[in-house]
Amino acid sequence: MKLVKVTPHYKPGISLVQLNRPKELNALNSKVMQSLRDHLTSLDQDPKVKVIILTGNEQAFAAGADIKEMSDKGAIEMLKIDQFKTWDQIRKIQKPIIAAVSGFALGGGCELAMTCDMIIASESAKFGQPEIKIGVMPGAGGTQRLTRAVGKVRAMELVLTGKFISADEALQFGLVNKVVPVESCLHEAVKLATAIAKMPSVAVRLAKESINQAFETHLDEGLQFERKNFYLLFASKDQKEGMRAFIDKRDPDFEGD
Ligand code: HXC
Repeated sequence: MKLVKVTPHYKPGISLVQLNRPKELNALNSKVMQSLRDHLTSLDQDPKVKVIILTGNEQAFAAGADIKEMSDKGAIEMLKIDQFKTWDQIRKIQKPIIAAVSGFALGGGCELAMTCDMIIASESAKFGQPEIKIGVMPGAGGTQRLTRAVGKVRAMELVLTGKFISADEALQFGLVNKVVPVESCLHEAVKLATAIAKMPSVAVRLAKESINQAFETHLDEGLQFERKNFYLLFASKDQKEGMRAFIDKRDPDFEGD
């Protein structure tokens, strides 16, 4: 059975990637993460793909890193395995990734959803960083991304108690873009992906890169970074086409160049 199922051309410009370890609630063992990294990397290089949707199943997006795989490891062994290299490679995917989350998104599963660029959650979704309950703490960016997404006091409560939050709370906290019924979760993600896929792809890529830069630098550096990408877009054909179309009062015909 494939641990990660991929439909590269699910809809025009949109790929669907599905975590597929249902019996283990999509627990993220190293094989799943490596396969996910390989598929995302190859979709990132496919010029026909504009947006990627990452999903799980109704029970779970992912219930975390695989506890059974990690439980007996020592610190140096963990360091040598260097699983976070795979996570770093996923973080560097240039195309927008939308997480369509139903069921559990816990620990590494919540961190994986937050590594994506946007999250559509179904009403059944449960988010949390329960690592504290098994004697560890978030390791794939949870303390950083969750804090940035929901603020310090909420992140503290979630990480230090390990409690789960509902999709509605996640929406109220600013962790997800939208909450929808379970049966329309994928459809909503496709709607969002379709809107993005229609946009000029160079501008999408540089805008994603610039927004992510906001988390990595001080404001002054971030503004410089944004400015350079803004200027760079004036070298693209789609900038000329987009602005010309506006002036001509017609729809733009973007070519992705
Ligand atoms: C390995 C897991 C798993 C996990 C679930 N399973 N989560 N296996 N790693 N993270 C397995 C169970 O062992 C069980 O298999 C099967 O999936 C179904 O799970 P149940 O517990 O029987 O289901 P349920 O009673 O509905 O409870 C669901 C649950 C619970 C609340 C999600 O499974 C749970 O608490 N899971 C662990 C959540 C967690 O602590 N995540 C953080 C992990 S650490 P068997 O074969 O036993 O029946 C982490 C670090 C990230 O993520 C940093 C590094 C990347």
